[in-house]
Amino acid sequence: MTLNKRSFINLSDIRKEELNKILKRARQLKKLRAKGTVFKNSLAKVNLAMIFEKPSTRTRVSFEIAIKELGGQAIILDESMTHLARGETVADTARVLDRYCQIFMIRTNNHNKLLEYQNYSNAPIINGLSNISHPCQVMADIMTFEESRDKILRKKITWMGDLNNVLFSWVEAANIFDFDLYIAHPKQIRPSKELKKIANGKKNITFTQNVKQAIHNSNCIITDTWFSMGSKKSNISEQHFKRYQVNEKNIIGANAKVAFMHCLPAKRGKEVTKEVIDNKKISIVWDEAENRLHIQKAILEWCLKKI
Ligand code: CP
Ligand code: NVA
Repeated sequence: MTLNKRSFINLSDIRKEELNKILKRARQLKKLRAKGTVFKNSLAKVNLAMIFEKPSTRTRVSFEIAIKELGGQAIILDESMTHLARGETVADTARVLDRYCQIFMIRTNNHNKLLEYQNYSNAPIINGLSNISHPCQVMADIMTFEESRDKILRKKITWMGDLNNVLFSWVEAANIFDFDLYIAHPKQIRPSKELKKIANGKKNITFTQNVKQAIHNSNCIITDTWFSMGSKKSNISEQHFKRYQVNEKNIIGANAKVAFMHCLPAKRGKEVTKEVIDNKKISIVWDEAENRLHIQKAILEWCLKKI
């Protein structure tokens, strides 16, 4: 493995200045695309291998278009259609793909596999969502909040619902970018050991069952599906989550310019009502989805040391 390679596995692996560089480049690339500017092929001849163990719409399409628009190409592998599904090891797969591809994006149920790819390949590894985290998503979220509202520094951000992978990356982001994160969640759901490790003792991170406290004067309310792909929560039902639904009643008391974000896919009537997600004044979910494309381009360029 090349020791000085750049991977994008968790936000806290990367220095704040580097994350800011990625955000800045994403904003620039978005402007260039809107103007229809012909891109210089910053990633010409780059082959991106994407391995999916779970379904995806946004991540798959945005990465594929991102690499194409930068001059490279994507090879998309559904894990179940590869020899990984028949017992070939991650180590062998990584060493083989390494001979064809210059960068990998992996979506996996097992975060340790990302670390294994990282160990056995010379190519940078991008986390396209794991059971632990979803760093590309939260970079796009920060970009979206800042372009539609204001700098995230010292803002109050509210998370409602499950303690999942997207939240993990939000907690890392709160530690790095210095904003207050209120996490309103059912008491039946306990933070994982990974989440505890990064959140414990942090003054700007508050876990609560008090929705009013979490929403009061909030600048941004975020939620996600109550049941993530592949998660096993036998003791939790929709009933436990109901109080944490983002609906018109629950968001009373938030800042007058509050934004609503959701990584999507969303279940209207479950974690969010249509009155909120389809409210053009509050909801910025479509810009959030679009920004995956711009941030992904900047992440690819950063990993390959083009920025
Ligand atoms: N938000 C997100 O990662 O969406 P996909 O599962 O469609 O990639
Ligand atoms: N928390 C969700 C995010 C989907 C993009 C999941 O893991 O299913």
